[in-house]
Amino acid sequence: MESVSTTSHIADASLAASGGRRVNWAERFMPVLRQIRERFAAERPLEGLRVSACLHVTTETANLMRALKAGGAEVLLCASNPLSTQDDVAAWLVEELGIAVHAVRGEDNDTYYRHIQAALAHRPTITMDDGADLVGALHMIALDRLDDLAPPVREWIAGLDADARSDIVSSILGSTEETTTGIIRLRAMAADGVLQFPVMAVNDSLTKHLFDNRYGTGQSTLDGVIRATNILLAGSTVVVAGYGWCGRGVAFRARGAGAKVIVTEIDPVVALEATMDGFPVMPMEQAAPVGDLFLTLTGNTSVVREEHFRAMKDGAIVANSGHFDVEIDVARLAEVAEGPPVEVRPMVDEYRIDGRRIEILAQGRLINLAAAEGHPAAVMDMSFANQALAAEFLLAERDSLTNQVHRVPAEIDREIARLKLAAMEIGMDVLTPEQEHYLASWDLGT
Ligand code: ADE
Repeated sequence: MESVSTTSHIADASLAASGGRRVNWAERFMPVLRQIRERFAAERPLEGLRVSACLHVTTETANLMRALKAGGAEVLLCASNPLSTQDDVAAWLVEELGIAVHAVRGEDNDTYYRHIQAALAHRPTITMDDGADLVGALHMIALDRLDDLAPPVREWIAGLDADARSDIVSSILGSTEETTTGIIRLRAMAADGVLQFPVMAVNDSLTKHLFDNRYGTGQSTLDGVIRATNILLAGSTVVVAGYGWCGRGVAFRARGAGAKVIVTEIDPVVALEATMDGFPVMPMEQAAPVGDLFLTLTGNTSVVREEHFRAMKDGAIVANSGHFDVEIDVARLAEVAEGPPVEVRPMVDEYRIDGRRIEILAQGRLINLAAAEGHPAAVMDMSFANQALAAEFLLAERDSLTNQVHRVPAEIDREIARLKLAAMEIGMDVLTPEQEHYLASWDLGT
């Protein structure tokens, strides 16, 4: 039964036991985060911190919440996507950890923003974002741009006096951001001189984007497509839009599964790299008639548009793995399609256009989190180790950090890699004194 209280809003508290078993399963693959949690429990470095996190509510996120709580933080979690919430995990966090959770799988837009409002009403000192929704709302409040807030948040803010409004923003020490998409937005805010507090770019850590974007998105995107459709990748033509770290991960894994992979790109250097990696590169217009499966991972809007749908083969499958549901122009497809879509399988909406069928997966939302479980725990281990240590760093360095987007310090990044290697029982070589001397010298080249 749906459970609504002032502190939490989740689908069904009775799912807690199954959620707990799955959270503990994920934890087996998160040795770095576990070590951080154990240190946090001993040292309590986050004592007094109020954290509002807007993240995908998954087994991996539950382990991050556990670590933050062990460190002494008072935590609230809300969903960063209406379709990615795992209701049993939400139940476990509320029932077993006593953490406030506002997330219901499949929630409508209004509920999504009520949950964001709850995260702001928690009066956080640190926010954690996956796509900058919390920071975005905080800035609309700070800049008095109430018209740009979603209606539930706007109505709530309108009912507060000026002091209460400014308290919400002034109590923030800083924020952390998980995604490439969020960082792009935040850098634009910093460049405009409007960023109100320091932000830690967790995404920019090497132990985050080189692993989670490439291996996590690479595997889980295909996992989502396969769970939704049960198609065979071998022998099919897969069009990957965008050859950033996520696109590269998907392209290599699709090729490994036997697909013919085509890449579309807008950056000449990156397009050249894809070419030299052995992928045909062409405009979407040219790829549209040959692809069986289209995957968008660009971070941009309207990548697959009406003219592309009209050129596609009968039965072409189109899915998005970029953060926002803007990469496939589903709204336009719905306008020009013959009749409403038919849900031919869960997560598969079939549209008809020019007499041909186009299959849109997960309504154009993040396929890996909507139809599968997102990145495997073994990569989220490093991403969330960065989140936990970035929160600790923000608190410790609050007086020296400027209102800019900051990278997690390189020593922290390297320490996470060291801990991960140690957990995997992989040893490395150590420089000999002679090698150290050689590297530090400029006159020993011969
Ligand atoms: N983003 C991508 N995969 C995720 C996961 N498993 N948990 C939380 N956030 C994610």
